[in-house]
Amino acid sequence: MTAKIIEGTKIAEEIREELKVRVERLREKGVIPGLVMLRVGEDPASVSYVRGKSKASEELGIYSETIVLPEDAKEEEVLAKVEELNRDPRFHGILVQLPLPKHIDSDKVLNAIEPRKDVDGFHPVNVGRLLIGEPYFLPCTPHGVQQLLLRSGYDPGGKHVVICGRSNIVGKPLMAILMQKKKGANATVTVCHTGTRDLAAVTREADILIAAMGSPKAITADMVKDGAVVIDVGVNRIPDATKKSGYRLVGDTDFDAIKEKAEAISPVPGGVGPMTVTMLMVNTVRAAEEQSGLKTN
Ligand code: GUN
Repeated sequence: MTAKIIEGTKIAEEIREELKVRVERLREKGVIPGLVMLRVGEDPASVSYVRGKSKASEELGIYSETIVLPEDAKEEEVLAKVEELNRDPRFHGILVQLPLPKHIDSDKVLNAIEPRKDVDGFHPVNVGRLLIGEPYFLPCTPHGVQQLLLRSGYDPGGKHVVICGRSNIVGKPLMAILMQKKKGANATVTVCHTGTRDLAAVTREADILIAAMGSPKAITADMVKDGAVVIDVGVNRIPDATKKSGYRLVGDTDFDAIKEKAEAISPVPGGVGPMTVTMLMVNTVRAAEEQSGLKTN
């Protein structure tokens, strides 16, 4: 059996088409959704991610600005900038690109973002709301994973979902989303991490396996049950002299081997990545609708 490929690029496109209608509705009322991204330093992956988010905004008619502070910016400067953006009515959404340089306390910066503008969903208020099943913004990557599953016909309801990785950005919020007693969720969720004793024994129990540990090709075919659905959240840059950039992207799964065994698998690139960006656009439009009193759903 060769697995169905879960094409994030196509599904993301579908969602963006739906969003265009909402952006148009806002524009007719004189509201232009606005997103501001704050990047500190020149981490190459962050530069590339922010550029992608800016391009997606432009294509949808969302106004976006990127503010870049130098690598050695002081924590107080970053906090002052966030405070300024909280008050700027042009921006309905604020995103601080992570990771921040080590001398800056990321938690402090995330805590400073006005929760109603926190389109990443990383503010503790939004994290707490998600956990109790009353989310305001769903974090982009986990929401993208849920949409990939649902729009490919794999409802997680009643399934055993095994998540590998317990990050605040992916593993933990995805657990919180998929375990809720709600439509499109209602799964039995197991979260594996570096303290998990026999990882393969757990992953082989998964009906839906989510690889989000940030370790290239760490999930091998022998760790996957026949007929499982596999979502690869990994984005690892590995050196490749044949590429102009000098690197290529690989996920956290051994895609070629697993596709001979799984029911379905998402590729890297072209799987979760485009969904993350798209769900950020969804949150920005939602923020604009809320802040202008035009929320329609
Ligand atoms: N760094 C890696 N993923 C993300 C994300 O989803 N949002 C932000 N702000 N930074 C990230």
